[in-house]
Amino acid sequence: MDHQHTDFDERAATWDDDPAKVERARAVADAINQQVTIDGSTRMLEYGAGTGLFTQAVWEATGSIGPVTLADTSSGMREQMEKKVAAGVLPDARVVDLDLSHGAPSGERFDLIVSVLVLHHIDPLRPVLAAFAELLADGGHLCVVDLVAEDGSFHGEGFHGHHGFDPAELAGWLGDAGFAQVEVAPCHEIERDGGTYPMFLAVART
Ligand SMILES: C[S@@+](CC[C@H](N)C(=O)[O-])C[C@H]1O[C@@H](n2cnc3c(N)ncnc32)[C@H](O)[C@@H]1O
Repeated sequence: MDHQHTDFDERAATWDDDPAKVERARAVADAINQQVTIDGSTRMLEYGAGTGLFTQAVWEATGSIGPVTLADTSSGMREQMEKKVAAGVLPDARVVDLDLSHGAPSGERFDLIVSVLVLHHIDPLRPVLAAFAELLADGGHLCVVDLVAEDGSFHGEGFHGHHGFDPAELAGWLGDAGFAQVEVAPCHEIERDGGTYPMFLAVART
């Protein structure tokens, strides 16, 4: 288990106590709802779902959601999601330990894959983008929300992931992974320690 997984395990139980995280999930859900139809037939994968805040926000906003898979490599985060499913706070989702760095599980297809603030933690990223392309059903959408390139102050010293992304560069990597159309737009901002960190939403189709 590496340091970052331990960190998320420790933070999982209090993750939702921060109102900014809940508000962020609602803003992201609004932005994605405006671009993609999500209904009771949408097979959705939330990858790096944390405590499932995005899925929760979509469910609260639409009242209708299809078969949902919530994936996270942190056992602490998965435990929180299992509790929410049992309590009816999240829909009756499948909660799984899935790291797409090792490839896509066979036989799975999704109409919508969503990943919020996860990809900057993953290096190398290209195997995960290729797995997204493999998992997407015909006509499906990949929605990636992440930080616009920043100066490293978001995580501070000792962080070994990406300092955000140049959205155009990420769009190029998505193209290399097999995505034919990629549209990028600004999506909400995070305030942290006196700094403002803009995020983007990339919507991609194969
Ligand atoms: C910054 S948190 C974001 C959580 C959630 N998406 C949110 O917006 O509240 C990043 C999450 O990605 C998960 N994660 C990190 N690396 C991962 C990987 N390779 N595969 C799946 N999940 C991963 C972490 O355990 C953590 O829950």
